[in-house]
Amino acid sequence: MVSLACIVQAITVILTVFTSPTGGQITNGGFASFCAFTGAILVDGHLLGMYCENNDIAIFGYNYTWIDLDYCIGNYIGMLRPQEFGHYSASCRGCIINFDSTLWLDCICPDLRHLPVHSTIDLNTTLFDYDGALGCFRVLGNKTREGPPLPNN
Ligand SMILES: *[C@@H]1O[C@H](CO)[C@@H](O)[C@H](O)[C@H]1NC(C)=O
Ligand SMILES: *[C@@H]1O[C@H](CO)[C@@H](O)[C@H](O)[C@H]1NC(C)=O
Ligand SMILES: *[C@@H]1O[C@H](CO)[C@@H](O)[C@H](O)[C@H]1NC(C)=O
Repeated sequence: MVSLACIVQAITVILTVFTSPTGGQITNGGFASFCAFTGAILVDGHLLGMYCENNDIAIFGYNYTWIDLDYCIGNYIGMLRPQEFGHYSASCRGCIINFDSTLWLDCICPDLRHLPVHSTIDLNTTLFDYDGALGCFRVLGNKTREGPPLPNN
C-alpha cells in the first residue's frame, strides 16, 4: 500500500521541479551564451535590461528581460560578489556595464575603511537565462516581447 507520506513526498518533488527556478536544469551563471549584450542597459545603477533567447527554438525566439541586480550582487568590503539579495547599490556608486565575450558590472564601492575602491564582476558567474528571463539564485526577472527604444547615441 502506498503511504500518505510517500504521496506527499512525490507531490513535493514534482512541485519543486516545476516551480523552483533553481530546480533541475538551472544553475547559477552562464547567461553569456544566450543573451545579446549589444543594447544591454543598466538603469539607476542596478536595473539590467537586454534580449535573451527563450525556448521557442524553432522561431529563434527572444524576449526583452529586466532583472534587479540588487537581488544578485553584494558589496563585500569593497568587492562586488555574487550574493542573493546582496543590494550592492545601497553602498556602491558610479556603476556601469561593459562587455567583451561576457558582461561586466563595474562600480566604486566602499571598503572596510569606507574608502571608495574600484570593483568589477563577471555577471556570467551569477546570471542565467531561463526561457528568455534573466535570473540569479532563486530570483527571476520579468520579460516582455519588445524592449525600450534604443537610446539616441
Ligand atoms: C559563461 O558561463 C558558462 C557556465 O559556467 C560557461 O560555460 C561559459 O564558457 C561562460 N562564458 C563566458 C564568455 O565566460
Ligand atoms: C520589469 O521590471 C523592470 C525593472 O524592475 C520594470 O521597470 C518594468 O516596468 C517591468 N516590466 C513589466 C512588464 O513588468
Ligand atoms: C516572448 O517572446 C515570444 C516570441 O519569441 C512571444 O511569443 C512571447 O509573447 C514573449 N513573452 C512575453 C511575456 O512577452
